[in-house]
Amino acid sequence: MAIIGKNIQEAIKFLEANEVIGLPTETVYGLAGNAFSTEAVTKIFEVKNRPTFDPLIVHTSSIERISDFVREIPVKAQLLAEKFMPGPLTLLLPKKENISDLVTSGLETVAVRIPNHPLALELLRNLDFPLAAPSANPFGYISPTSAQHVDNQLGMKIKYILNGGECAVGIESSIIGFNGDEIVVYRKGGLAIEDIESVVGKVQIQEYSSSNPQAPGMLKSHYAPRTKLIILNSEPEYRPFRIHNSKTAFLGFKDFQPNVPRENQLILSPTGDFREAAKNLFAYMRALDARGFDIIYAEFLPEMDLGRAINDRIRRAATQE
Ligand code: TXA
Ligand code: MG
Repeated sequence: MAIIGKNIQEAIKFLEANEVIGLPTETVYGLAGNAFSTEAVTKIFEVKNRPTFDPLIVHTSSIERISDFVREIPVKAQLLAEKFMPGPLTLLLPKKENISDLVTSGLETVAVRIPNHPLALELLRNLDFPLAAPSANPFGYISPTSAQHVDNQLGMKIKYILNGGECAVGIESSIIGFNGDEIVVYRKGGLAIEDIESVVGKVQIQEYSSSNPQAPGMLKSHYAPRTKLIILNSEPEYRPFRIHNSKTAFLGFKDFQPNVPRENQLILSPTGDFREAAKNLFAYMRALDARGFDIIYAEFLPEMDLGRAINDRIRRAATQE
């Protein structure tokens, strides 16, 4: 198992030796290494068992430092950066040569993010290189929202996890690219589309495609528990009266299901708060997944605000391809 601690100096020591560590952020935990080091970036792909066609996000501590590895920042990207960075926003920007093709999977753009987490920011400020970091889960599984989640799955492969407590946002960053004048959301995430549009106007939403996963988190099956997950409100044949069974679980938004044993149910936000629901989503999926149920039923949230990003995660968790 890895050492779980809060020692920034210790984290720096590992990173400067081209090791990878668990990194807390406000969205989910990352698996971080020196973005300028081929050795460290190679380790990230190995530890995560991630295919090299899936590029990594590069994390830094300030808008000024983005220019260390990005050629230019379009006006609308700058507006978004000033408003939402640090925060759950990732921008796709033209890369400089110091970012290797390994990081971007050969793409000309690099994904850039400033995490809004005090420990992560302090660490980044004390490094003279940015950190490449995917979510710290084995490829395809649910993202980690605590140091313990990281240790459970990757602890035998890494030496250190910086413990920043539970992630406040709980789902990954929203990923945005710029296509001339067009703004494209490639992954719905912790920053609501409504907030993005309030700054830059109407955006396009790129829906996922399993045949062309060139874009962010776009593989159809992702964030998936091992237990079969079925979405209740899109599968009429599985109405509640048929699911009364000690081996079934329910992951709900606000309300319990009358016909599922109470102890088999987790409710994301009894008050119907999207932020609370996002924060709990992955931890609750993991908790239910660990209990050996035959089926986990889940329901969609209203398709608005962070409900859209949460529904996207639930949809992909349910896809068994
Ligand atoms: O909240 C987050 O974004 C977390 C924390 C750790 O920062 N990171 C995260 O990384 O979710 P990851 O690797 O699990 O997901 C990043 C997504 C991937 O689906 C990848 O395909 C996409 O970003 N991506 C990275 N660089 C890209 C690029 N240049 N163009 C298009 N998509 C890119
Ligand atoms: Mg991920």
